[in-house]
Amino acid sequence: MKKIGLIGAGQMGGALLKGLLETKTISPEEVIVSGGKSGTAQALQEELHFVLGESNLEVAQADMVILAVTPKVMPTILTEIKDVISENTLVISLAASMELQEYQAILGADKKIVRAIPNTPVSIKAGMTAITFGENLTEAECEVVNRLFQSVGETVVLEESKINSASTLSGCSPAFIAIFIEALADAGVLNGLSREEAYLLAEQSLIGTAKMALLTGKHPGAIKDDVCSPGGTTIQGVVALEEYGFRNAVIKAISASTNHKH
Ligand SMILES: NC(=O)c1ccc[n+]([C@@H]2O[C@H](COP(=O)([O-])OP(=O)(O)OC[C@H]3O[C@@H](n4cnc5c(N)ncnc54)[C@H](OP(=O)(O)O)[C@@H]3O)[C@@H](O)[C@H]2O)c1
Repeated sequence: MKKIGLIGAGQMGGALLKGLLETKTISPEEVIVSGGKSGTAQALQEELHFVLGESNLEVAQADMVILAVTPKVMPTILTEIKDVISENTLVISLAASMELQEYQAILGADKKIVRAIPNTPVSIKAGMTAITFGENLTEAECEVVNRLFQSVGETVVLEESKINSASTLSGCSPAFIAIFIEALADAGVLNGLSREEAYLLAEQSLIGTAKMALLTGKHPGAIKDDVCSPGGTTIQGVVALEEYGFRNAVIKAISASTNHKH
C-alpha cells in the first residue's frame, strides 16, 4: 500500500507534489497519482517519476489520500472512491469551497477528513497552508498532516468557519501579487529599465519587505513610514496609490474571491 495517493495532478496537486518530493518529505515510490482525461498526470509523471495509478480507486487505497480536483468534480470522485476509504484513511481535500460535512455525507460520518488549502509556492518550500481538521482524527494524526504541509512552508490551523477567508487570502493572492509585480516591472520598463532589471528589482523588493514584516513583526504602516521622508519621492507615490484606489482595489479583490460561490 502506498503512503500517499493523489487524485488530480493539476496546478495545485502538481505544485504540492513537487514541493514534497523536492524537500524529500516523500520519495517518488511512496506516491501514487491519478488524473483526469487530458493527461496532466502522465506528463507530470515523466518529470517526477511517481507511480501512476490505473484508476482513482487504486489511488484511494493509500494511507493518506489527497484530493486535488476542482469542487465541481469532487462529489463524483468521492462517490467513486467511498468504498475503499476506511476509518483509518486520512482524506485531505485541497478544494477551497466544500465543507467537512459534505465529505462526511458521502464518505461516512466515521471517516477522517481534513481540509488543507495550500498555495502554489508550496512547490518551492515557501507555501502557506490553512488547515482545518475533521472530528475523527487523533492528535497524532493531526500532527502528521500539519508536519506534511510544514515541510513545504508555513501552516495555520483554523476553525472551519475561517477557512474560506484564509484560503482566499493565501490561496488566491499569488495571482494578485504576481499582477502587482508585473505592474511594478511595467512601470520600471516605462521609465527605461530592461524587463530583466525591472523584474529583479520588483521581486526582490517584494520578498524583502514581506520578510522584514514577518521577521521583525513591524507594523506594515511603520515600514511604509520608514520609506517616506517628509516631502520626498515615496510619499508622492503613496498619494498616487491612494488617489487611484489601490488599497480599495486589493480589498475588493479578496472579498470578490471570498464571496464567490462555486
Ligand atoms: N490553483 C491554486 O492555486 C489552488 C489553491 C488552493 C486550493 N486549490 C484547490 O485545488 C483543487 C485543484 O485546483 P487546480 O487549480 O489544481 O485545478 P486544475 O489545474 O484544473 O487541476 C485539477 C486536476 O483534476 C484532474 N481531474 C479532473 N477530473 C478528474 C477525475 N475524474 N479523476 C481524477 N482527476 C481528475 C484534472 O486532470 P486533467 O487535467 O487530466 O483533466 C486536473 O489535473 C481545487 O479544488 C482548488 O479549489 C487550488
